[in-house]
Amino acid sequence: MSEAVEYERIGDIAVLAANNPPVNALGVDVRRGLLAGIERAEAEGAKAVLIYGKGRTYFAGADIREFGKPPQEPWLPGLCDRIEASPLLLVSALHGTALGGGLEVALSSHYRIAVPSAKVGLPEVNLGILPGAGGTQRLPRVAGVEAALDMITTGRHVRADEALKLGVIDKVQDGDPREIGLAYAQELLDAGAPRRAVGEMPAPDPVDFDAVYEAVLKKGRGQLSPAVAVRAVQAACEAPSFAEGMARERELFMQLMESDQRKGLIHAFFAERAVGKLPELKGVEPRLVHQIGVIGGGTMGAGIATSALLAGLPVTLLEMTQEAAHAAKDRIAGNLAGALKRGKISQQQHDAILSDQLQLATGYDSLSAVDLVIEAVFEDMDVKKQVFAQLDAVCKPGAVLATNTSYLDVNEIAAATTRPQDVIGLHFFSPAHVMKLLEIVVADKTVPEVVATGFALGHQMKKVSVRAGVCDGFIGNRILSTYRTCADHMVLDGASPFQIDKALTDFGFAMGPFAVSDLAGLDIGWAVRKRKRAEGLDPRARDSSYADKLCEAGHFGQKTGQGFYAYEKGKRGGTPNPEVLDLIAADRAAQGITPRTFTDDEIVRRYMVSMVNEAAKVVGEGIARRPLDVDVVLLYGYGFPRYRGGPLKWADLQGLPGILDDIRAWSAEDDYFWQPAPLLEKLVAEGRCFDDLNKDAQ
Ligand code: 3HC
Ligand code: NAI
Repeated sequence: MSEAVEYERIGDIAVLAANNPPVNALGVDVRRGLLAGIERAEAEGAKAVLIYGKGRTYFAGADIREFGKPPQEPWLPGLCDRIEASPLLLVSALHGTALGGGLEVALSSHYRIAVPSAKVGLPEVNLGILPGAGGTQRLPRVAGVEAALDMITTGRHVRADEALKLGVIDKVQDGDPREIGLAYAQELLDAGAPRRAVGEMPAPDPVDFDAVYEAVLKKGRGQLSPAVAVRAVQAACEAPSFAEGMARERELFMQLMESDQRKGLIHAFFAERAVGKLPELKGVEPRLVHQIGVIGGGTMGAGIATSALLAGLPVTLLEMTQEAAHAAKDRIAGNLAGALKRGKISQQQHDAILSDQLQLATGYDSLSAVDLVIEAVFEDMDVKKQVFAQLDAVCKPGAVLATNTSYLDVNEIAAATTRPQDVIGLHFFSPAHVMKLLEIVVADKTVPEVVATGFALGHQMKKVSVRAGVCDGFIGNRILSTYRTCADHMVLDGASPFQIDKALTDFGFAMGPFAVSDLAGLDIGWAVRKRKRAEGLDPRARDSSYADKLCEAGHFGQKTGQGFYAYEKGKRGGTPNPEVLDLIAADRAAQGITPRTFTDDEIVRRYMVSMVNEAAKVVGEGIARRPLDVDVVLLYGYGFPRYRGGPLKWADLQGLPGILDDIRAWSAEDDYFWQPAPLLEKLVAEGRCFDDLNKDAQ
């Protein structure tokens, strides 16, 4: 037998125990072991076979690392058919997460029992594929088309109690999976229960699949896999036989397997797991954090405090006045009410957090006992330095001192203390209790233990944490300011903000750059522009004034009801503000620019290439450790379409030589903005791509 599946005989029952840590993925050894186990059980005259997983879970799916490599037999669909066709009684006992191919093996078994904490699901669409081992054919037969479409197109994890109601599993029982599985198999044998093959059940009744397809396609904002999966479920209803339905599923599965979207989504899956794995943190223990302080309870401070409270950490929140502190508490209470409404916390937890876990303060002494402080005061270097000098005076030795600054120099902030080794940037995104991204900004003197503490805190707050180095804007905001500038240039040259936003949402972005500016507040960009102009712009840099004119007229975007778009109270989204076009026309005239037309393709290409070029500089300078770190930042903080994998995965899929050619061609019109990143030039010269750098860093 293979080591990945252990065989044991208990009376009439052959027990197949998968042992492929950490998640019992159905790699080739497991598939071979299962096949050999069934054949042996049949040859030895067993009456039933129990399949379960050792360790933390039943099979969590096909082995994703095998995707894109030559397939090795037995293939999963054939194995599932073989399991189902066995003359013995096949029983699966589920615990942990029975996902994807895992649930497909379970659905091929004749009976399924699960522990109450088990979850089942077919999350393949989130990897850009669809269930390819009979999931789209068997699930609708046991759960009905509506439930199957919901599970398959969303990929959601379904708890055991719901799965029982849906008919996906037959019994829920507490206990050890091996023991409950054995007892259930014996019970079925004693009762003379028949073999029950889902593939032999009648085809389910069809629904209006064209309508479902359209709705799912629209919801996916360009992601194909959920919509294609609808067609596979359609085949379960309409194909003349189960075998023909399976063949259709295979055909659609292979189509998706070859797609760039599959490559992008699998890259995203592994990248988000790799960001926290840094060689310099190997074996480094984080400092213990039992209570934290937050300074400033505005938009960010209140969100950060909420996130900490929801993660079970008591918070002391420091504001300038009692009044401001109470306003901060109101903001936090509003955030918590939202969490309560969405079922994230119970009423009891909500009340306990507000009454016991949150302390308000106006004096620094209140922070003397906290283990970590996050500063979220105004974005002003002098104010930040004063705050850090005071923290240095009161905080206990070893306390981690963090700043949430968006752009400012963390080294300079650290220098305001006598303990720069304990100072770090923890850059949250707005709204901080909702957005998953956390940039962990490592300054020159920050010690690894403090970096590890940042990652541990991020983990506790359920964030996706990415290491960044110090520069203006770190990873995300630095790249943003470049592609935002590219959008401004295109506006000056003839595109409208509305065309740009539409082209980019059609590309898959959650929002276009001008709608994002309206949401964030136009005053933020205005302040940055004023700061940069005061510092002195390079004479070769192009500048524009149309957005300043909006701000001068008091239009700051959504919060004032008007910006690039006009917003009606109570309505989501806005309509294009026609005044903007006049302001742009005036700006062009003042600069002597004759506008030209842009196609949507050119808009997307320029925007993306500017993003890739700046990202390559960020990696080349070591601000991001690897290309995948940039990808995760853009995916989690900037609404980048996940099915494209991130900007540098997109660049690899497009081909780096073509991107470099475009930059060189455009530098003829503006050689200040379009300066090729040295790293991009090097990769092209060596015939390598960004993913090679990810692999080098493994
Ligand atoms: N294949 C290969 N490796 C896998 C894997 C899989 N299906 N699922 C998880 N892993 C790896 C992870 O990469 C990680 O490796 P690392 O420790 O080296 O980083 C390790 O297992 C642990 O995973 P997590 O850190 O994600 O552990 P969690 O406990 O947080 O989550 C999980 C566990 C819910 C199972 C989560 O890993 C998950 O969602 N996995 C993917 C499940 C999935 O998509 N299954 C469908 C696969 S496609 C398929 O089955 C096709 C079929 O229809 C033909
Ligand atoms: P804000 O203006 O909403 O809140 C700042 C709060 O700090 C105010 O409530 C103010 O009373 C308080 N404050 C100011 N000086 C203080 C002091 N000395 N002691 C105690 N409290 C003080 O600002 P916002 O948007 O929350 O930003 C805070 C920080 O977070 C800035 O550094 C900003 O760059 C950064 N940031 C902002 C993001 C955003 O989208 N708003 C995103 C990520 C970071």
